[in-house]
Amino acid sequence: MPGRPAHTAEEFLPETRDLDALADAAHGCKGCDLYLDATQVVFGGGSADAEMMLVGEQPGDQEDKAGAPFVGPAGKLLDKALVEAGIDRDRVYVTNAVKHFKFTLPERGKRRIHKTPGRTEVVACRPWLLAELDAVRPEVLVLMGATAAQSLMGSKFRLTAHRGEALQLPETDDLEIAPEVAVTVHPSSVLRGPLEEREKNFDALVADLRFAAGLRAHS
Ligand code: URA
Ligand code: SF4
Repeated sequence: MPGRPAHTAEEFLPETRDLDALADAAHGCKGCDLYLDATQVVFGGGSADAEMMLVGEQPGDQEDKAGAPFVGPAGKLLDKALVEAGIDRDRVYVTNAVKHFKFTLPERGKRRIHKTPGRTEVVACRPWLLAELDAVRPEVLVLMGATAAQSLMGSKFRLTAHRGEALQLPETDDLEIAPEVAVTVHPSSVLRGPLEEREKNFDALVADLRFAAGLRAHS
């Protein structure tokens, strides 16, 4: 069957593992079905020698159109949170657990609705995330939201139980680095939550980011 999807991105990874080569190769990825309906792949972006790498879930509507991560509403909120936490966005690397936008189209002409990626897609897309980690070699890794956290910490990982903790990646990954790991909520969850809780949830996100930035000093 022509175009039959593979089960993982692995075979689409290039031999050269610098970020530019990775981002180029990702445009040809058919590691799961998500490339079929999305506009384009949205690879990570930011400083190639960042000390901090932040991982979200998947590109949203605006990221899908722009081809860059965290440029929509969640990205604006993240920018604000980084500023408040004293972290320079120009000095971090930002990416997603899944590199294509997953959505449903309720009716013709209507806005595309974000759909949470499933375990299959998260696992399929993981080789890109691991390759980015190996290329950037951050000292601190911040996993934002359950999708990012479960991609790297395992499917049983409970985010809420581990906020504010200094974590390490499980040893099962063939990574040559061992960054300090912190988890926090996804910036979109602050926007989606009740209005009266927004400030509190935003402050908690900032506190988690500040905690993560502080981990660097101990590594
Ligand atoms: N949400 C994400 O997880 N990633 C983006 O790039 C945008 C919104
Ligand atoms: Fe490849 Fe990831 Fe896109 Fe699936 S979501 S096609 S694995 S880049």
